[in-house]
This record gives sequence, structure tokens and C-alpha cells, in this order.
Amino acid sequence: MNIFIRFSRAALLLCMVACTTVETTEVSEKEEPKNPLMLHEKEIDDLISKMTLEEKVGMIHASSSFTSGGVERLGIPELTMSDGPHGVRPEHGRDWALDNEGTDSASYLPASITLASTWNPELGYAYGEVLGSEANKRGKDVILGPGINIMRTPLNGRNFEYQGEDPYLVSKMAVGYIRGVQDQGVAASLKHYLANNQEIKRSSINVEMSERALREIYLPGFEAAVKEGNVYTVMGSYNQFRGQFATHNEYLINDVLKDEWGFKGLVMSDWGAVHDTKQALEYGTDIEMGTDLNQMPNIDYSKFFMGDTVLTLVENGTIDEALIDDKVRRILRVMYATHMFDERPGGSINTPAHQKTAEKVAEEGIVLLKNDGFLPLSKEVKKIAVIGANADYSMSMGGGSSQVRAIHEITPLKGIKAVVGDKVEITYAPGFEISKEEAVNETLVAEAVKAAAEADYVVYVGGWNHGFGTDWNAGRYDMEGVDKPSLKMPVQQDELIKKVIAANPKTAVVLMGGGAMDVSQWLADVPAILFAGYPGMEGGTALAKILFGDANPSGKLTFTFPKSLEDSPAHAMGEYPGDADTLNVHYNEGVFVGYRYNDTYNVEPQFAFGHGLSYTTFELKDLKISKTGNTLVGNVTVSNTGDKEGAEVVQIYVHDVESSVKRPVKELKAFEKVSLKPGESKNITFQLNEDAFKYYDEAKHGWILEAGDFEIWVGSASDDIQLKETVTM
Ligand code: GLC
Repeated sequence: MNIFIRFSRAALLLCMVACTTVETTEVSEKEEPKNPLMLHEKEIDDLISKMTLEEKVGMIHASSSFTSGGVERLGIPELTMSDGPHGVRPEHGRDWALDNEGTDSASYLPASITLASTWNPELGYAYGEVLGSEANKRGKDVILGPGINIMRTPLNGRNFEYQGEDPYLVSKMAVGYIRGVQDQGVAASLKHYLANNQEIKRSSINVEMSERALREIYLPGFEAAVKEGNVYTVMGSYNQFRGQFATHNEYLINDVLKDEWGFKGLVMSDWGAVHDTKQALEYGTDIEMGTDLNQMPNIDYSKFFMGDTVLTLVENGTIDEALIDDKVRRILRVMYATHMFDERPGGSINTPAHQKTAEKVAEEGIVLLKNDGFLPLSKEVKKIAVIGANADYSMSMGGGSSQVRAIHEITPLKGIKAVVGDKVEITYAPGFEISKEEAVNETLVAEAVKAAAEADYVVYVGGWNHGFGTDWNAGRYDMEGVDKPSLKMPVQQDELIKKVIAANPKTAVVLMGGGAMDVSQWLADVPAILFAGYPGMEGGTALAKILFGDANPSGKLTFTFPKSLEDSPAHAMGEYPGDADTLNVHYNEGVFVGYRYNDTYNVEPQFAFGHGLSYTTFELKDLKISKTGNTLVGNVTVSNTGDKEGAEVVQIYVHDVESSVKRPVKELKAFEKVSLKPGESKNITFQLNEDAFKYYDEAKHGWILEAGDFEIWVGSASDDIQLKETVTM
């Protein structure tokens, strides 16, 4: 398979016009299918009819590290892809050399966990717009995000790249993101389909789960992304699912994604996730990516599973050429939808607007977990000690494939200095080193304690980190390819925090990381705690604005903070990381993931799903429900009863009073974020159709709405329900 040199689009266009007479069939408005993937079926028929089998096969596997093959003769360009979910990754050349061309910087957006913590779908769209525009500017046709795998265990090394534990919240945030990306003329890639919920043995484990867990927890985010977000591409995951690799899985891809959901775009494998030619051809892989990683350094793209072997299989009748045609058709649909045959609007990189979006997402995504009136901090002091290596550590190039060469990264320390100005002396003591060794450095500890004692108050910034830069084998925390060893923070930060607060109890703790960690040893002794996720290039500014009251926090947790790992369902009821010999991982906890487990099994969390405080106070009142058939319309009034402007996320949960199967006590089925001035009230309306009340019945192989009473619970957190109304379905 000869590697085509990447032609400029103009040259390809010229060739395209010259080489093919494309009939443009007039499609009247009313007939025009609204799906951008389905507007050029005639042109695609025409192109396929002109292609040789070899040309078709050249399109269904990689032609370099991040491209799949084109057909130069017919003016079909290579499809160019790039990571990642929160920024366009540095260039890797065609053969994985991390070519620091010096032109491959990009905006380093907050990680997905921080985006999701905003609970603001409009920001999801704005975030996608930035990502799509920058991918476009960097010459990419596909950006490999969003990642939306459900947070089944707090130990998953890639939780930072995903959006938490609740499928409804994930579906709302993912749809906005995808539309934002694709409105820039670039394809999003929904990943990782499906059940890639741990990194330990990710390329070999076999996930077993009930059909009900699949339908109620693990599929809904992907289903919404396909049906509502119209995502153009899906990435099949590394793991096996019920005995077949997910990226060529008859049930997940042929039956569910393509038949049941009617997905018209393309499925690419994760990089190196294809293991079998015939399965890949028959069970839904449209493009095989990344197998070159297993061939290094002698890469030969014709030797891919979906390479020259396919020619033989078609020529000897084992495989019907129509199968290959469908793959090529899906690829060409994405090419047309991303304007690769006409003019795609220009993109831009790191504009002030992009930076503003990055800061807004960070500001709305930082979660105030605890505040005994200590925050916001006063600037009218002499000395503030900033303690903790996370305060001055660049995260952007860490984490694995989602790395970004940030154009700049405002760390918490930089942000605090900028917001406080030179009126106040800011001292900094790392207190620990972010390194492979993880050894406690007593000198650093002593320095930190001294700095704390000498300051008016302390801002501690710690938690997890992305392992160590791009060293893939060194990461032990929020990093692709590894899971965390426990909920404990690295380098015994617990001890350090205890010593710091002993030296100065006026300490606010800021936790960075992809999910929950163990805070039990010092939680009671600190007056304020914030969860900052990975807040991106403007994160330090957003954090400082919140710390000093120039912004009012409005983030809410998208996952449960368990008191201990044993309190987490995958560890209390399920298997994790699975059987070392059989490689099976049984999701025995079923649908009882996250708060669904805590509520139903009465396990009190450290901090609950949906929890997040504000510098003002809110009141919910006047819940009214009206029902037409099986559709509910609800009204509730939310008021800002405090003295600061702020935003509240009104959360609506459904509780089934009596059911024939064991159901979670409540499930999130609607939410709305409302900004209010002091004293202002707003009436919000929400609608619940009958799907909001159904459960999946395995015996009946379908969704069931069981007649009877349900309660609509409305609150500002899953453990702060303030209003209830009963309805009969
Ligand atoms: C990686 C990741 C995937 C990424 C791909 C390309 O292994 O699993 O998220 O998009 O390969 O780098």
C-alpha cells in the first residue's frame, strides 16, 4: 500500500473536478435529510463505482500515525485525525516521531471532568467550538474526543478525560460538545465505545455486565451522542465485551450502534485495538488505526489486519466486497460532512475568545466542597503562603494521548499572584516533589510548615497529577494506561496537610485530580476545600478569582466522593480490576453505580453527586407538576436569598415508589443551571417524558413503564432534596 503524500486540498479539489463528473441531484428542501452525513449518497455511489478494490482497502486502515488512506487518483484526500478531548495534541509526524515543529501549540482547555462539573450544556457547546476551530486550523478533519466512559471506579487513570458517573448528565454535556466541534466543520470522535472503565489490562480484559446495566448506565451517553449529537465518528475501545473485542463487536457495533440507533458515520478502532481481520470486516470496524504501534519500527501498513489480507479474502469470495463498500461509504460520508471536498470555514488558535471560554469553563467547573465562612479570602493581609507542588506544576503535556502543548498555562500560583497583585506578599513552598520516587522530602515539608506558620493564611494546592510528563510508564495517577493504586494522594500529602494546618489552621485546600480521593484524615480540620479537576490553561486565574471572591463558584460534583474505596460499588459489589487469569471483569454492581449505589445501600458518601456550594444561598420552592398522558411538565421557583450573584444547578430526580425490580432510589432525569442576582427569583420549567420513568427489563428485552406512583425530587444536590411531588403513571 503506497503511502500518498498529503496533497493540499486545492490540488485535490482540482483533481476531483477533473477526474469525476459528479452529478449534483437537486434535493428539494422538504426531502433533504437533515443529517449532514447523508447529503451526498449519489456522489459517493459514483466515487465507489470508480474505485478499485485496492483503493477501497487503502481507505479502511491507517496510512500513517494519525491518517487513514485516501485515493489520489479520484481526489479523495487522507482523513487526518488528532487527539484529544481537551486540546489539539502536538504533531506526531507520520511515524510517531514527536515532531516538535514549534507550530503545534494549542489551547489547553479544562479536562472533561471539569467541563462536566459546570453542569452547563451551553458551555459544552462553546468548549466544542474552541476545540473544533483549533483542530481545523491545525489541518485536522477529526478530533478524537469527547471521551464519555462512565466513572465506575475512582481509580480509573482516565477519569479526568471523562464526565463522571451519571449517564443523563454525560448525555447532556456530550451532545453540546459534539455539536460545537462539528459546527466548525470538523468531526468529533465519541470514545471509547464501550465499557473502557479501567486502564489496568485495558487491551485484554473482558467486560461482563447485565443487559440492564448496559442499557441503563453504559449506553445512554453514547446513544444521546449519536441520536441527538449526530456524532460523525465513534472509536471502538480496547477491551473485550462479552467475549468479543469492542472495536469489532457484532452486538455493540452492528446490532446496537448501526442497526438499532441507525448510526451513519464511521467506526474507527482505538490505536492497536483490532485483533482479527474477519471480525473487523464483519463486526463493524470501518477504519483500523494504530496497528503500526505494534509493528514499530518497521511499519508496513499493508500488513494491517484490514490491509492486503482483505484483497485475498474478497478475491477468494470469503468476504463480500459490499462489506468493504459500506466502510468506504461511511468514510466518504464523514469526508463530505466535514467539507473535505469543498471549502471548510477557517479555524483559529488560542484567540482571546478561546481563552475566555477556557477560563469560563474552569470558573464554572471548580467545585466548592466545604466552606466554614473562610472563603472568599481577604486581600487585606500581609502574607499569604501558597503550599503544594500542584500550585506550580504544568499539567498540559501529561496524562497520555490527551496531552496538549499549551500556549500558556496559568498555574494556581501565577493566578493567585496576578489576582492579589503586589499589595500582598505571596510565599510559595512546594512541600513535596511530583516525581516517580514519591519519597517524602523532609526539607520541603519543614519549609512548607514554616511558610504556613509565618503567613496570615494558607492556600494549599495538591491532590493528584498526571504522572510525570510524557513518560508513559511513570504515570501512577491521572494517566492513560494506568489506574491509581488507591484513593490516597501521592507523596503522603495527608501528613503534609495535617502539619500545615497544625501550623496555621487558616488553610484552604484545593484538590486537583480526575476524581475522588481520600480526604478523611484532615477534612474536619480545614475550613474550606475546593475540587478543581484539571482546570486548563486559565485555571489558575479562575481558581484565584474564586478564592478571593471575584467569582462565585457554581460547580457541582459529577461523581461521588466515597469515604473509602470499600464504599465504592465497583469495589464493594463488583469485580475490579478483574480476574488475572481469565481476564474477566464482572460488573456485579449492575446499575448501582455512584450515587445509585450510595442511596440504595445507605452508604453515606464523603461528598455526594451533585454537591457544590456557593458564596450565596438559594431557595427552591413552589414545585408544581402537571401531567398530560405520560408526559410531565414541572415548574419550580429558585431564588437567590444571599447577597452575592451566583448560579445554582437545580437537579430533578425520579424516585419509583414501588417497582417489581430493585431500582436505584433516585435517578437524575433533568437539571438546569440558573444565574441569579441577589434577591432575584426565576421560575424554571422542566419536562419529563415517559422514558424518564422506565427501567430496562431483561426478561422482556425492553424498557418498561410500570404503572404506579413515582415521586419527583428536586434539590441542589443528590443529598440535598428540598421538594417532592407524587405523580401516578
Ligand atoms: C490511545 C487512546 C485513545 C487515543 C488514541 C490515539 O491509546 O486510548 O483515546 O485517541 O490512542 O492516540
